Amino acid sequence: MTEAKIRIQNLYKIFGPKPQSVISKVQEGMSKQELLEEHGHVLGLKDINIDIPARGVSVIMGLSGSGKSTLIRHINRLIEPTSGKMIVDDQDVLAMSKDELIEFRRYKASMVFQKFGLHVHRTVAENAAYGLIIQGTPVQEAKQLSQKWIERVGLGGFEGHYPSQLSGGMQQRVGLARALSTDAEILLMDEAFSALDPLIRTDMQDVLLGLQEELHKTIVFITHDLDEALRIGDSIAILRDGAVIQQGDPQDIIMHPSDDYIVDFVQDINRGRVIRLKTLMAPGESTSGPNLPHTMNLELALPLISEAESKSGNVVDDDGQIIGSISLEQIISGLTRPDVDTGSETRYQ
Ligand SMILES: Nc1ncnc2c1ncn2[C@@H]1O[C@H](COP(=O)(O)OP(=O)(O)OP(=O)(O)O)[C@@H](O)[C@H]1O
Ligand SMILES: [Mg+2]
Repeated sequence: MTEAKIRIQNLYKIFGPKPQSVISKVQEGMSKQELLEEHGHVLGLKDINIDIPARGVSVIMGLSGSGKSTLIRHINRLIEPTSGKMIVDDQDVLAMSKDELIEFRRYKASMVFQKFGLHVHRTVAENAAYGLIIQGTPVQEAKQLSQKWIERVGLGGFEGHYPSQLSGGMQQRVGLARALSTDAEILLMDEAFSALDPLIRTDMQDVLLGLQEELHKTIVFITHDLDEALRIGDSIAILRDGAVIQQGDPQDIIMHPSDDYIVDFVQDINRGRVIRLKTLMAPGESTSGPNLPHTMNLELALPLISEAESKSGNVVDDDGQIIGSISLEQIISGLTRPDVDTGSETRYQ
């Protein structure tokens, strides 16, 4: 088990004049719509339980209004819950004093915003140094320290530019450099790449993944885009109407979506590109077929297995050890869109 860096436990958020007076209704199962119609309160989050492991990218996904921003803003207590717990590194975030909370936001959990959140009258260098300056680092030293990150995100040479002189992708790189300069262990990214054009967005995902390989931050990443979630997420939690309806390994969610809402998310993805052999393989050794790496996707494996006389092959781990077998039939069933998983576990066997 990996250690949980952030523990979210039984978290509820109800917006409205008297949230405490209606929380029991929600706990008894009242829906978001009923709560609004009968009691004039908005259900923001309902009984959220998520353990976010250290040093991974945890994605939170859901449609507009499902509660993603509300959830991530609880982590650094920009929003107070109606009830529940938020523990970060065994520290109770809800018990922190005002000063402790300021420290926590400055040093421990940096936020990267969708709209970049840059100061328009400050240069790239000043914006990137800003997180350090508010930590109390003298300006010159802050600029020196953040220079490394300006270069690391590919903005070397642009230090004297203003945000308005930069493209969206470049502005978001400044946002990232600012968050990284603070050395915070946790990055909270609320739709950080959603405002970017598709190609630039893919570039930024690559920048983030490259950095993550080196830095191993604990990243909470919000998106409503499944392709993005699959590219960067080590785990995914899916929200609907303020509740987590499925969480786990991305590959597992694709293979076993727990209801129609998730089927809608997963039906348009390119299954051949995102599903990997490890997800589909059966235990045991195969045959005379080729040895294929467990990370290979179905699109690449399909021709290789079709050509093999046995119409099957072995799946090998990073060290070349055989960890299972894969057949043409399994690949084809993996490429087929799923219906709702009934829990019978028979569909892909
Ligand atoms: N301050 C507030 N007062 C009242 N209702 C709120 C408030 N903030 C959020 N809500 C409601 O809580 C629910 C969740 O909103 P939230 O902004 O967290 O959704 P989201 O998943 O981030 O959506 P989006 O993808 O559009 O950013 C929505 O129904 C929203 O209207
Ligand atoms: Mg939001």
